[in-house]
Amino acid sequence: MALLEVVAVEKHFGGLPAVGGVSFTVDEGEIVALVGPNGAGKSTLLKAIGGMQTATSGTVRFDGVDITKFEPHQARHVGVAMVLQTPRPFETMTVRENAVVGAMFGGARISERDAVRRADEMLEFVELAERRDEPVGALNLHEQRFLEIARQLASQPRLVLLDEVMAGLNDSELEASVEMVRRARAELGVTVIWVEHVMKAVMSLAERILVLNFGELIADGEPQEVMRQPDVVTAYLGETHHEGAA
Ligand SMILES: Nc1ncnc2c1ncn2[C@@H]1O[C@H](COP(=O)(O)OP(=O)(O)OP(=O)(O)O)[C@@H](O)[C@H]1O
Ligand SMILES: [Mg+2]
Repeated sequence: MALLEVVAVEKHFGGLPAVGGVSFTVDEGEIVALVGPNGAGKSTLLKAIGGMQTATSGTVRFDGVDITKFEPHQARHVGVAMVLQTPRPFETMTVRENAVVGAMFGGARISERDAVRRADEMLEFVELAERRDEPVGALNLHEQRFLEIARQLASQPRLVLLDEVMAGLNDSELEASVEMVRRARAELGVTVIWVEHVMKAVMSLAERILVLNFGELIADGEPQEVMRQPDVVTAYLGETHHEGAA
């Protein structure tokens, strides 16, 4: 059985569908990139899986459980964590306190001592351990994104949804991030669906690419093959702006 099953998911905000009847499955251990032009519906689809938006119709199943109508905390409880395009850390807390909150509100019951240990491990994982006693406000946007990854990983998810966590990184930061996602799978056993505009990162990390265009899934397959598909090329040629807006 697939870990995640998305069946005919639609999301409307009034008029035109932002996501128009998308179906796919993801197996445990996959690293899947979700790409497509600005406004294609990538964030909306990810939020419908993570519980931040409720699909207008269709079904989302995680490990056989219907999570279509789940709130974010319920999704986290069954093992689905999401890193939003714009992180919203608890501003008055330190880096470490933010990560501890993530660890406390995962699936399993966890003692405070274990939560702190788990939080510290995940801060180490994203290379923010040395900053742990600083206020969140001392981190730049990229670091705040990585804190958010640590916070979500601290909840011990099985599926992690990442929305443009690599936007605006330089080459060496990009390589480090790609390596971090690989290690998250290898060492923490997570499955990853990851929205990304940075094609260099997509081509080096993804084993499978899903392409959304105007809310429709137009391709699903091996990266080199997918990016040669004529309708995918056309969708990208129509795009003028690559770094995602917040
Ligand atoms: N909360 C909302 N209310 C109304 N319309 C929305 C809302 N969220 C998204 N939309 C619309 O749904 C469509 C898809 O938006 P979405 O943010 O999912 O695209 P995206 O692929 O993530 O784009 P980007 O690459 O710019 O982040 C857009 O037309 C957008 O304006
Ligand atoms: Mg988006």
